Amino acid sequence: MDKDLQGKTALVTGAASGIGRAVALLYGQHGANVMMSDIDEKQGQQVVAELQVAGANARFYKADVGDAAQCHQLMQATLAAFGTLDVACNNAGIIGELSLTADYSVEGWQHIINVNLNSIFYCLKYELEVMLKQGHGAIINMSSILGQVGTPKLAGYVAGKHGIVGLTQTAAIEYAAQGIRINAVGPGYIDTPLLGDFSAETKEALVAMHPIGRLGRSEEVAELVIWLSTDKASFVTGAYYPVDGGYLAK
Ligand SMILES: NC(=O)c1ccc[n+]([C@@H]2O[C@H](COP(=O)([O-])OP(=O)(O)OC[C@H]3O[C@@H](n4cnc5c(N)ncnc54)[C@H](O)[C@@H]3O)[C@@H](O)[C@H]2O)c1
Repeated sequence: MDKDLQGKTALVTGAASGIGRAVALLYGQHGANVMMSDIDEKQGQQVVAELQVAGANARFYKADVGDAAQCHQLMQATLAAFGTLDVACNNAGIIGELSLTADYSVEGWQHIINVNLNSIFYCLKYELEVMLKQGHGAIINMSSILGQVGTPKLAGYVAGKHGIVGLTQTAAIEYAAQGIRINAVGPGYIDTPLLGDFSAETKEALVAMHPIGRLGRSEEVAELVIWLSTDKASFVTGAYYPVDGGYLAK
């Protein structure tokens, strides 16, 4: 395994479960100091323990990414722990309400936009403050295939994930010349606890939407995130990369 993030500091939000956990573990394997954040402290600490057993330097900081002040505190805690912030994967997210658009509650809309989109702005803003002083950095925002196309009953999720792509492109243009690369990743349906409320029948229907014939694995998304985080992707910014078993090719 390349230790191409040796000595660098990597931050992951939503790191206690699913894709974020896989990204955190892989950052550790690539030699990074890992700052893990989540609202689930118990599970987050378990992932920290896994990282430490594997020989990585890892810490957990509890933060709700829907709260700007907590995102700011997360960056301060990362700097206090490791001294730099070289790489950040803004990953935390939820599915939110499952309703047709006319039935979608205003509260449900505000909640999903706050957790899935405002959060990316908050993290990005405070990460950029640090990275601009350093003169370098790589940021990966977790969008979705639903950042490119729609799907019924997920208006808030789809709008938030599309918003992440636009925000990523805008910030990438603004800061490319200052050594900061910002990209978005678009997973297809990945077998994580996020899909926990979906019935077996729904999951089967989801499988059928992927030409590859199965749901994705968190590790398959993590590999793309790690590549975008390293200098191997030194000419890549403002991009949206699907990792979707062919979902968007149809
Ligand atoms: N699983 C999929 O099919 C899929 C597909 C495309 C995109 N994504 C995106 O990938 C990201 C990770 O999803 P996952 O499938 O690993 O889900 P997951 O439910 O396994 O993990 C999400 C993590 O985010 C944390 N979290 C939730 N709200 C938070 C908040 N307000 N502040 C901080 N942490 C919070 C949860 O505690 C959890 O640990 C999400 O942004 C999701 O939208 C997932």
